[in-house]
This record gives sequence, structure tokens and C-alpha cells, in this order.
Amino acid sequence: MADDTASASEDATRSYYDTHDVDAFYDAVWGGEDIHTGIYTDEHEDVAIASRRTVERAADTVAGLLGKESTVLDLGAGYGGPARYLAERFGCRVVALNISEAQNERHRATNAERGLDGLIEVVTGSFHDIPFSDGQFDVVWSQEAFCHSSDRERLLGEAVRVLEPGGALVFTDLMAAEGASVEALRPAVSRLGVDALATVDFYRRTLTGLGLRRIDFDDHSGQLLHHYVCVTEETRRHRPELRNTISPAYLDSLLINLPLWVDAARREQLRWGVFHCRRA
Ligand SMILES: C[S@@+](CC[C@H](N)C(=O)[O-])C[C@H]1O[C@@H](n2cnc3c(N)ncnc32)[C@H](O)[C@@H]1O
Repeated sequence: MADDTASASEDATRSYYDTHDVDAFYDAVWGGEDIHTGIYTDEHEDVAIASRRTVERAADTVAGLLGKESTVLDLGAGYGGPARYLAERFGCRVVALNISEAQNERHRATNAERGLDGLIEVVTGSFHDIPFSDGQFDVVWSQEAFCHSSDRERLLGEAVRVLEPGGALVFTDLMAAEGASVEALRPAVSRLGVDALATVDFYRRTLTGLGLRRIDFDDHSGQLLHHYVCVTEETRRHRPELRNTISPAYLDSLLINLPLWVDAARREQLRWGVFHCRRA
């Protein structure tokens, strides 16, 4: 059971992702598969295509470790887009841990439709208390989930604990720029159920302290502005049909919150990219 700091953000996240409103929004705007920042190669590209490219790039960093005999743990697995990609590309087993049972139900159903339920196990639980024993996984993977944690030192400790020696931790996360004002970002960040984002320096320092080596950060911060402009425009474009599927209050709150992320990205107050490192 997580302590109070971690469990406050867990409750907020669970109730956020378990609502029908949030489910319908991610389905309409991201395609309900990958829900993280995209890497765009063309300004007219769909959010879903760019978001899939992020999975491909992150997977390239651990391709040498993955095959039919390996197992990946995906922390905060969402609807399972990354888990299915990894299982299909490498034939590896994936354990997908996620706190939202509503997402997990959809995740399991999609895996079964695609014949991937034999390779992917979907588990309900929190990355603050990973329900597996030490050193079990070849790769621990996560995309845009650590931003929901109010105890990131604890979750990183857990991620490293379950990684086998020589295994890799790879993750993407929304972060604050060094020196960005926590107060100024708070109105945007509050939608994630936390007070503040991590920084690149925090991750480097904490991962080093946990004994990880070859810590690399592929900096794609320049993608954030375009991504949030696209997501905001898509939300506005889908507004008429979203009005029929999600509550007006949630839609209005999104249309207030998303432009705050656009503004923060424009002011270069945010960072984003792919971290990858190895356990000694
Ligand atoms: C923005 S979504 C990203 C989903 C997925 N990783 C992807 O990229 O498509 C964030 C995910 O983190 C999960 N999450 C947040 N806090 C969590 C926690 N404490 N333990 C496990 N999962 C958590 C949410 O339920 C959600 O699925």
C-alpha cells in the first residue's frame, strides 16, 4: 500500500482515467491506442501516427535486448498501444501494469481481438508498489505515466528493483525545464493530479543514485509545441461529436487546460524526450 504522498496522486489518477469522459476524449483525439507525445516528421501528420513513432524510437533503444525469451514491464500502460507494439515487433512477453481498471478492461479486449492476449498480461496496480519480485524483467518501459506520480523517487526505486542486472529502463515523460516556475506551471499540471513535474536533472541524478549507467536522454522537447497545438486543434475540431459523448464541463475544462500547455511549450518551460539507461 502506498504512503499518503503516493496514494493522493494514485486516487486522482484512478478517478481521472476511469471516467467515461476521459476515455472518450483519448479515443477521439489520439485514436485510443497510444496516449503520449508524438514525434512529428511532417506538420500535417496525425497525432496517432506521430505518437506511434515515439513508441518505435523508444523501442529502437532496447531492440538488442528483446526477443521471444524476454519480458518487458510497462508501467502505466494505458490502452496498451506500446505493449502490443513490443509484443508484435519482438515476440516478447509484456506485463502491463496500470492503475485504471477501466483502461485495463479495454486493453484486455483489444489484445484478445488482435490475438495478443497470450503474450500480454494486464495487471491492475500501482508503480509505487510494483507487485513483482526483484530482478524479473529484461526491460522496464513507461510512457507519459511518471508525470502522474507525486513520489517519483519511490517509483524509480521500484522500477530498478524489478529490473534484472544488465536490463534496461526506457521511458518518456513530460518534464519542466530547469528553473521553470512551479507556480506558473501549476494550472496546466493540475490536470495530471500532481503539484509539479520532474526535470531532466532530477531523473539523471536519481537514476545515477540508483546505480544505473549509460544514462541517455534523447531530447525531443522541440516536439511539444506542435504536439499540444495539434491536440488542442483536434479537440476543437471534434467538439461537435465530443459534445454528444463527453460532459460539457469536461470538454470546457480541456479547452481551457490544453492551451495552457501550448503556452508553456511556447515559453520553453517544458521538456520531453526518451530516457534510456542500464542496470549495472
Ligand atoms: C498519459 S497515460 C499513458 C498511457 C500509455 N503509457 C501510453 O503511452 O499510451 C498515463 C497512464 O499512467 C497510468 N498511471 C498513472 N499513475 C499510475 C500509477 N500510480 N500506477 C500505475 N499506472 C499509473 C494511467 O492510468 C495511464 O494509463
